[in-house]
Amino acid sequence: MAFNLKGRHFLTLRDFSTKEIEYLIDLAAELKRLKYAGVKPRTLEGKNIALIFEKPSTRTRCAFTVAAVDEGAHAEYLGKGDIQLGKKESVADTARVLGRMFDGIEFRGFKHETVEELAEYAGIPVWNGLTDRYHPTQILADFLTIKEHKGYLKGIKFAYVGDGRNNMANSLMIGGAKMGMDMRIVSPRELFPEDEIINTAKEIAKGTGATITITDSVDDGVKGVDVIYTDVWVSMGEEEHFEERIRLLKAYQVNMDMIKKADENVLFLHCLPAFHDLKTSVGEEIYQKYGLTAMEVTDEVFESGHSVVFDEAENRVHTIKAVMVATLGNQ
Ligand code: CP
Ligand code: NVA
Repeated sequence: MAFNLKGRHFLTLRDFSTKEIEYLIDLAAELKRLKYAGVKPRTLEGKNIALIFEKPSTRTRCAFTVAAVDEGAHAEYLGKGDIQLGKKESVADTARVLGRMFDGIEFRGFKHETVEELAEYAGIPVWNGLTDRYHPTQILADFLTIKEHKGYLKGIKFAYVGDGRNNMANSLMIGGAKMGMDMRIVSPRELFPEDEIINTAKEIAKGTGATITITDSVDDGVKGVDVIYTDVWVSMGEEEHFEERIRLLKAYQVNMDMIKKADENVLFLHCLPAFHDLKTSVGEEIYQKYGLTAMEVTDEVFESGHSVVFDEAENRVHTIKAVMVATLGNQ
């Protein structure tokens, strides 16, 4: 084994070197190949995995469950209201109890500090399934998808367009910096990333050849890029901000005009779920209130040949499997 990540937590890509991230992406590609070939190494045989979800999830929950079962582990879903966490029992006490029973813990929730505290007290690997600050397992899936379609990551011209202050923008900036990308955050000034994240990404970039650009100009930001990425305008837990975000982000919608400014073979990525049509209750409500038939991406782009969002969604399972196998597996 080139790297020993055994026993490590996976809370943010800040804690991982370029080589370690590359290793996890390559391991995911290998595990994907094995799964397609019908080979199941079962490196998590007999392990028990706790899945704590304070917020809803389709991809992350299913990816952790399928990845665990593929590798011979048992996954136990602990949803909001199922356990005492934070209500009758502190985070530290919950971590110590789960640490006596399980072999690994996934946590999705509101405050990043909660996943840090779980990691501090659990005594077993803790994996971040999304917090207000970071969504690192998503980045591995995004980067595997880009590597599959473009063949490389270093030097990729990448524009994230939308809410520059959310968990996806933060994580992409850190991940892009680590992988030597030309990373651009394209958002209105009011939603520019926090200085702390920008400065950290720029510091990392010095050692990897990455460039970090923050701009409110769509024309400058997406010109000639290989990848356009967007995310919801309103993240989970911020639902009172729809009106303000629609006002600020309307001009940042990913549509065919924007796609035409990028490289002709530009990929479109989105962590999903996406508001690209009126087939959801929230989408319908927004249409009734504001007259928008789509928010962050038009249906035309979402359904176009540029879009690789379902490859990306599938890659959640292979990359999450790589994280669990690397930190917990019996290799
Ligand atoms: N992209 C992502 O994390 O999706 P879920 O919210 O469905 O897990
Ligand atoms: N920024 C989004 C990501 C969803 C996967 C959210 O936090 O809701």
